[in-house]
Amino acid sequence: MGNRIVVVGTQWGDEGKGKITDYLAQQADVVVRSQGGNNAGHTIIFGGKKFALHLIPSGIFNPHIQNIMANGMVIEPIALFKEFEMIHEAGIIDYQLAISDRAHVIMPYHLDIDVLEENLKGSLAVGTTKKGIGPAYTDKSMRIGIRIGDLLDPEQFKERLTISLRFANLKLQSYGAKTYDFEDLYDTYLEYGKKLAKWVTDTSVLLEKVVFQNKKMLFEGAQGVMLCIDHGTYPYVTSSSPSAASVPLYAGVSPQAITDVVGVTKAYVTRVGSGVFPTEFEDDCSKGIRQRGKEYGTTTGRPRRIGWLDMVVLRHAKRVSGLTSLSVMLLDVLSGVSELKICTGYLLDSKQIDYIPANYNDFAKIQPVYVTLPGWTEDITKCTTFDELPIQAKQYLRAIEEYSGIPIGIFSVGPDRLQTIALKQYFDYK
Ligand code: IMP
Repeated sequence: MGNRIVVVGTQWGDEGKGKITDYLAQQADVVVRSQGGNNAGHTIIFGGKKFALHLIPSGIFNPHIQNIMANGMVIEPIALFKEFEMIHEAGIIDYQLAISDRAHVIMPYHLDIDVLEENLKGSLAVGTTKKGIGPAYTDKSMRIGIRIGDLLDPEQFKERLTISLRFANLKLQSYGAKTYDFEDLYDTYLEYGKKLAKWVTDTSVLLEKVVFQNKKMLFEGAQGVMLCIDHGTYPYVTSSSPSAASVPLYAGVSPQAITDVVGVTKAYVTRVGSGVFPTEFEDDCSKGIRQRGKEYGTTTGRPRRIGWLDMVVLRHAKRVSGLTSLSVMLLDVLSGVSELKICTGYLLDSKQIDYIPANYNDFAKIQPVYVTLPGWTEDITKCTTFDELPIQAKQYLRAIEEYSGIPIGIFSVGPDRLQTIALKQYFDYK
């Protein structure tokens, strides 16, 4: 194992990355978040209290860890200030943080446009988190976005806001919605810039030094590979790439810098928002899983859809993200499920296929091919080793390895940090 590990969600987000990130972050010197914004959310339990982090990297509770919000992120300043307030109230004032001057700013009109555009899509709505993520990345691609560094330069900010707002107001007018006043936004966001200034820097330059020093680095993923704008179930995806392949780009590090990629999956699959989900099922068993796994969105509170583990999805994530090991979360939630299904392949028009069709209508027609394994009834939350698991749980984990072709490095049998069972060492301790 090397010293620069990417943690990536292998499905549609909410795979339990928060817990594994928190676990690995304890051993890291640097924690980097490289993409997305406050559409993500993970819960960290620290000092007996729960913290929902949406933007700030999870090393923030440890004063020795350098936390970095890199260039690929879209940052909503008000949401960020709320997170600062939350951690300050908990007495966390001694932390290290750097924010990229190239990260983009989510402006209030992005939130309005997100809602209006979802409404316009009607039954074809993506089911976004309504946090303005898509419109902010749209402005970035259109080259009319505002970057964090712009907020620190009144002249530059005037220019960037003029152009960004010109497009936004035109859009808002066409929807018959309220437009924004330049002066109000200008003054407010310049103030925000002043508040953020002490953290803002070129994080790529900073990371180059850290890589050179061979520090232990963790790149924490947000969302999951199936929500990737390129490799996900387009158009039901987010507006950036949560794949490990995006990390060098979105963090400004060399592709050779990445040594390992941990793919996180639950022992089953969940999805929030719209879109095809081949292994989804809705019955008493899925209701039980939702209840035991507390499967409600951290950001929006929506009930998550439940499905069986899908090996085509896992192998897809392995291919596009270079997974070197798996972390299987929430295994304990499956206790009491009499029969466990694993989807090993797809049938499309009666033909066996082993890929995710790009054509969305084809994907909607997919019929999963399952193998069925016996479940277990024992409570496994106190197990501390693989050997202590019931035989059926061992078989289930082995089957995941066999069908995905990826070794399991960690599995989790409960929410506590201590209920994390690592089968190997992650960072190099030379
Ligand atoms: P957006 O990222 O808010 O534009 O939402 C696009 C899609 O990604 C929607 O289906 C969201 O529910 C989903 N999504 C975005 N972020 C997350 C996440 O962190 N976990 C799970 N789903 C997410």
